[in-house]
Amino acid sequence: MRKVKVAIIGGGTVGGGVWQALQKNGALIAARCGYEIEVNHVVVRDPAKKRPVRIPKRVLSTDWRAAVMDPQTDIVVELVGGLETAEEIVSTSLKQRKPVISANKALLSARGAALWKLARKHGTHLYFEASVAGGIPIIKVLRESLVANRITDIYAIANGTCNYILTKMAREGRAFDEILKEAQDLGYAEAEPSLDVDGLDAMHKTGIMGSILSGFWVPEKSIFVKGIRDISPMDLQFADWLGYTIKLIGSIRCMHSEKDQKDGWKRPVLELSVEPTLVPKSHVLASVDGVFNAVFVKGDVVGESLYYGRGAGQDATASSVISDIVDAACDLHQEYEYTLAPFEAFAESGVVRSHADCVANYFIRLEATNRPGTMAQVTSILAEHQIGISSCIQPENHVGETVPLMLMVDQAPFSVFSRALTQLGRLKVVRSRPVYFRVGSFE
Ligand code: HSE
Repeated sequence: MRKVKVAIIGGGTVGGGVWQALQKNGALIAARCGYEIEVNHVVVRDPAKKRPVRIPKRVLSTDWRAAVMDPQTDIVVELVGGLETAEEIVSTSLKQRKPVISANKALLSARGAALWKLARKHGTHLYFEASVAGGIPIIKVLRESLVANRITDIYAIANGTCNYILTKMAREGRAFDEILKEAQDLGYAEAEPSLDVDGLDAMHKTGIMGSILSGFWVPEKSIFVKGIRDISPMDLQFADWLGYTIKLIGSIRCMHSEKDQKDGWKRPVLELSVEPTLVPKSHVLASVDGVFNAVFVKGDVVGESLYYGRGAGQDATASSVISDIVDAACDLHQEYEYTLAPFEAFAESGVVRSHADCVANYFIRLEATNRPGTMAQVTSILAEHQIGISSCIQPENHVGETVPLMLMVDQAPFSVFSRALTQLGRLKVVRSRPVYFRVGSFE
């Protein structure tokens, strides 16, 4: 049996999961791919630390450089997280012409373009299946399984923490802060939750998917991001009345000019955002609950398809890392020359449309003074901006000085919509900052 030796840098949750799954299924994996995968190093900060998964002392070490430079090491798995050290590990390994597997979405999002070029320069690959949606093999789907398609749309629930919080808020009618605190106590949410609840983690993943489908590396700063902190139980309740639920959706639309039908894929125009979105209850994404992730993909040949599963956790993420190790082993020995590169820069030019110019329908909630003429002032501002109203609710018998006013408005470019929203916020009758969410049609 041919053997490949793998150095895992980072012996935390995912590293432990990879070790454990290889112990359990190593023989099956070898029978499937023709390679025995041997872990020759697991690099950790403290080899004496007690770990949930027992890793034998003989493979544990503390010097990542020595593990990477070891002539016996064929493949490097970077699982340390963060940016600076992770980048050094990845680039040092690529310069040694060693394929690298990384689950580090923040690193790929920030430095993916440069790392991809470095891999290419040194004739090797950087694999990143585990960086998006944990155990869902979405990178492989986009790069291989859907190779026949121009992928036009992706709508993804790519952050389990946000999905868990929103699911609980919708079911139990409780506030964001309360559910977040509970999720932190249970270990479902990080003590520092910003990366998740402010949408940054979903932004990293959305950018990576957008890069694969469009063929140019999407700059992360070009993605519009809005987190879930503004969502109140009332928003979820009103959305429910109107036939929607609210999810944090990473949205990618890939277009090209009508005149450019044949070669348009060389000059893609992308619209990318991560924001709380009203999802019609009839849409399949509306029923993705709890910590689960899902990616809804439209291709011009395949039509619509959905990929669902666990977006995080030891075993789900290890499953994706091992799939990359097997691809790297096959590529390394070039016995099966069928594996497509994790990323190909096939676009000649690509642009991300400014969010100001992206058109969408919106839901608005205002806290307004309950007196005659309030609605007239609100609707005249919308009319001045040429924004139509498709529905409007003020709940009857609401107790208190102010009442919630909910409006669903027709399509408008974000720049126009946000000017109208600013003016609504300046009205004397509007008593707090207006809240808005995009309404997804997914058409
Ligand atoms: N923190 C992420 C989530 C998982 O909540 O989905 C890792 O990307």
